[in-house]
Amino acid sequence: MKSHSRTQLLKVLFVTGLFVLAFLSSAYAKPKDKDRWNKKYDTEVYLFGEKPIPFLVNNIDILPKGKTLDVAMGEGRNGVYLATQGFDVMGLDISEKGLEKAHALAAKNNVTIQTKVVDLENVELEPNSYDLIICTYFMDRGLYKKFYDALKPGGMVLVETYNIDYLKYRRFNAKWALNTNELLDIFKGMRILRYQDYDDAREAYSSIIAQKP
Ligand SMILES: C[S@@+](CC[C@H](N)C(=O)[O-])C[C@H]1O[C@@H](n2cnc3c(N)ncnc32)[C@H](O)[C@@H]1O
Repeated sequence: MKSHSRTQLLKVLFVTGLFVLAFLSSAYAKPKDKDRWNKKYDTEVYLFGEKPIPFLVNNIDILPKGKTLDVAMGEGRNGVYLATQGFDVMGLDISEKGLEKAHALAAKNNVTIQTKVVDLENVELEPNSYDLIICTYFMDRGLYKKFYDALKPGGMVLVETYNIDYLKYRRFNAKWALNTNELLDIFKGMRILRYQDYDDAREAYSSIIAQKP
C-alpha cells in the first residue's frame, strides 16, 4: 500500500474511533445517572422529605396558578404541595422510582400530578407554555437559561440550590454550587421579585423568583 493511502486509511480509522467513543460515552453516561437515582430512591423514606421547601411556601401567594413545570421533581415534595394549592403540575425527572414516589405522595395528599421520565440534558421545553417553572436542587446553568422561552409572558420561575458558601460545611463539588449573585445574573432579563442567600452555618443556598415581562 502506498504511504499516501495508508495515511488516509489511518485517518479514517481514527475519525471512526472518535465517533464510536462519543457514541459509547453518551449511551452509557445517562443510564448511570438513572440507575444511581433509582437506587437512592428505592426506600420507603422520602430522602428529601415530604414537605415543600420554605421558600416556596413563604411565597406561594405571588406565584401564578396555572400550568406548572417541576423540573427534576424527584420524590415530589414541591410539585405535590403546588397541586394541593390548585396548580396544574407536570413533573420531569430521569428517575422512574422518584416519580413513582411523587405519585404516591400526591395520592396521600388527595391530589393528582402528571409526570414524564426525561433526561434533562437533552430536553426541549415548549416555548411560551408555562405559568410557573420550578427547579430545586438540580444545578444546570444551560437548562436554567431555557426557562425564559418556555414561560408565558407574565410567567414566573422559582429556582433554589446550593451556593458556594455550602462548601464551608460539606464536601461538595464546587461546579454544582452557584457563585455569588449567579442566579441574579442568569435571570437578569426578567423582573426579580424575590431573592435570598440563606446560610445557617449548616446549609447555604440561594433562591430566586423572577417574572418574564
Ligand atoms: C437533589 S434531587 C432534587 C429533587 C427535587 N427537585 C427536590 O428538591 O426534592 C435531584 C434530582 O435530579 C434528578 N436528575 C439527575 N440527573 C437528571 C437528568 N439528567 N435528567 C433528569 N433528572 C435528573 C434526580 O433523579 C433527582 O430526582
